[in-house]
Amino acid sequence: KHDVLTTIVVFGASGDLAKKKTYPALFHLFQQGLLPKRTRIIGYARTQMDRDKFVDRVTSFFKTDLSNADVQQFLALCAYVSGKYDKDEDFQRLRGEIDANEMQMGKSDEQERVHIYYLALPPSVFVSVGEQIRNNVYDASCTNRVVIEKPFGHDLQSSRLLSKAIGSLFAEDEIYRIDHYLGKEMVKNILALRFANVFYEAVWNRHYIANVQITFKEPFGTEGRGGYFDEFGIIRDVMQNHLLQVLSIVAMHPPKSLRSEDIRDRKTEVLRRILPIQLEDTLLGQYVGTRDGTKLGYKDDDTVPKDSITPTFAQCVLHVDNERWRGVPWVMKAGKALDEAKMTIRIQFKDMPNAVFPNLARNELVIQVSPKESVYIKTIVKEPGLSTNLAMSELDLSYHKRYQDVKIPDAYATLILDVLNGDHSNFVRSDELDEAWRIFTPLLHQIDSDQVVPLPYEYGSRGPKGVDEFATERAGYKLSSREYHWQPRPSS
Ligand code: BG6
Repeated sequence: KHDVLTTIVVFGASGDLAKKKTYPALFHLFQQGLLPKRTRIIGYARTQMDRDKFVDRVTSFFKTDLSNADVQQFLALCAYVSGKYDKDEDFQRLRGEIDANEMQMGKSDEQERVHIYYLALPPSVFVSVGEQIRNNVYDASCTNRVVIEKPFGHDLQSSRLLSKAIGSLFAEDEIYRIDHYLGKEMVKNILALRFANVFYEAVWNRHYIANVQITFKEPFGTEGRGGYFDEFGIIRDVMQNHLLQVLSIVAMHPPKSLRSEDIRDRKTEVLRRILPIQLEDTLLGQYVGTRDGTKLGYKDDDTVPKDSITPTFAQCVLHVDNERWRGVPWVMKAGKALDEAKMTIRIQFKDMPNAVFPNLARNELVIQVSPKESVYIKTIVKEPGLSTNLAMSELDLSYHKRYQDVKIPDAYATLILDVLNGDHSNFVRSDELDEAWRIFTPLLHQIDSDQVVPLPYEYGSRGPKGVDEFATERAGYKLSSREYHWQPRPSS
């Protein structure tokens, strides 16, 4: 694929996502020699910027100094065009820029060419930009790929409208819906763990697994993003997409092959078996300021309405109604302004079926997605030494210890590389998206129509009252012991 003539257009090039994620990821790929030899990156946005300002903006999150030769060579591939998001002439100018760049790179009739349109844009302009691309930029003589980012609507109906609009402009195999959790190392690792190790798959079902918990915690609030967040809330922001994607990979049946459609078929299949979530199975919270006044509450943010009842925390139980999982509760938890930064998948196994040892704690397999990628299995051992007691210990694979020389790439770098390779495995298909909204929409609508008021929790706490009991009471989670805490291994 290295000699494909490649043009990447980044729409919204002056925005936050482009600056924080898209350009740093493209630069990372360039440094690793993973961009095709002949590539041009054209930024497009409304802001008028001269070259210096453009360079400042797109390199502001690079970890390498601007004077570095790599950065300079990368910037030589980058151009910028400013224009409106709905004006024919502006998009025709963009097409002119693409053509000129392709000529410079040695375009010919036999040459394989790819155009990637990366829409790092707010949803309000998705469709108009899509139409402009289709009418004024799209080149049917090359391969076209369109990358889009959430939010993909705010419920089942709006998502369907959006899918229909986008679907009338581009074919499904031209569309790459990003869910950046699918680019994370430990999420990609689930397939390998499950389907390349006999001992995991052997127990991966309701006979051995008691419950599963998928947890997302952030130690900061919505500072500065309140305007966006208030319309969506934590369920749409994190659960309906990131956590449900993770759940579907943990729960899916083995795919026929590693081809993207085989994987996505299996994920969609399991999503279809998930029952809509009930309000009774849900705990909602919203953070308030700390008592000492050092941290402000959600509603103290100027961009948030003073009477907002948008949840910044949610915990709920899901059920996968198929033979493998019937009866196993899946607990999802997500919250902002909590006590720590952590994303984990915790699989708790059932009690030992024999009575050799009384009162055993349960085994757990924990996949820590972030921070400090790790997999550990809580394992009971004989307490070492002369004692014959049992002790909770762990089989531990801490990546920073085991793979000290490997730098784990940002999710966006992996995903953009997939787009360059035309691999859809880690992108969300439209039927998958539809199922994800089907599962959450009744709950979201009920929360809105009943005006459910979330419970308050203090900034920096573990969440609202009842958070810890929730998993025990609703999902039969058994705490092993208050004393046992897994610690990531120090790296040397
Ligand atoms: C985004 C959400 O999709 O994911 C944010 O909109 C959230 O609210 C972020 O903070 C979390 O991503 P990561 O990669 O930092 O875990």
